[in-house]
Amino acid sequence: MPQTAPPADRALAESLLAFWADAGVDSLFLDAPVDRIAAGLAPPPRRAEPPPPTALRAPPAPGARPDVAAAAAEARSLAAAAGDLAALKAAIEAYEGCPIRFEGAARQAVFSRGAPDAPVMIVGEGPGAEEDARGEPFVGRAGQLLDRMLAAAGLTDRVFITNTVFWRPPGNRTPTPAEQAACAPFVERAIELVRPKMLLLLGGASAKAMLRREEGILSMRGRWFEWRSADERLELPAMPTLHPAFLLRQPAAKKKAWSDILSLVQRLDRPERPH
Ligand code: URA
Repeated sequence: MPQTAPPADRALAESLLAFWADAGVDSLFLDAPVDRIAAGLAPPPRRAEPPPPTALRAPPAPGARPDVAAAAAEARSLAAAAGDLAALKAAIEAYEGCPIRFEGAARQAVFSRGAPDAPVMIVGEGPGAEEDARGEPFVGRAGQLLDRMLAAAGLTDRVFITNTVFWRPPGNRTPTPAEQAACAPFVERAIELVRPKMLLLLGGASAKAMLRREEGILSMRGRWFEWRSADERLELPAMPTLHPAFLLRQPAAKKKAWSDILSLVQRLDRPERPH
């Protein structure tokens, strides 16, 4: 008869695994190899293989400074040529100007999920291990918390979700401003194609990059800012709030994020004044 762990042990094991996954540890090795043939043990079940990393142009020499301006110019022209979200996704997949792609942790580009005509665009920081494996943003533990908050606020089908960078930084480190700048033209083009009414920016790394401001997230959260595209042609109201990964570590802060989301919903559903 198959043995199943008691629910308490299972919950404990799941929470420990999630803790390590959040910390960027996603592989497990024993200290010594096990000869499963000699021991007569069945091999461990194989996990479905995520796609192999895509073939790349030669990675930059170690220590070489990325040419951010050239990368952003290339991104801008690729993004401008994308006439819809599917073409934008393909352009991102083909783009080699973001240095994170060469750092060994990313298996694939992670672009977006959600409604292509959503009134709210959510911009997170960058994909983690789960997102990298599945190719969609916010599908790990932080994403599940985000989804629960969105559902409670009635926003489930009213959001389009993306990140400031599209490749998983090793060890889930925060993406650098240069990496974010190399991806920014694609984020702007996504905004142009989806045409949301407002932006919800998750965490300090997203808020600082999108709003080009230096304050910490605790002082920016809950306030309305004006987001502007680099060429100043587009502008939108933007609300920074706390990142759901932070909320998992600091549950007491959830009420602040919840109040930010409620004020966003209030503005979203406010009847528009006639001009
Ligand atoms: N954190 C982010 O900022 N983005 C994701 O997609 C997942 C976790």
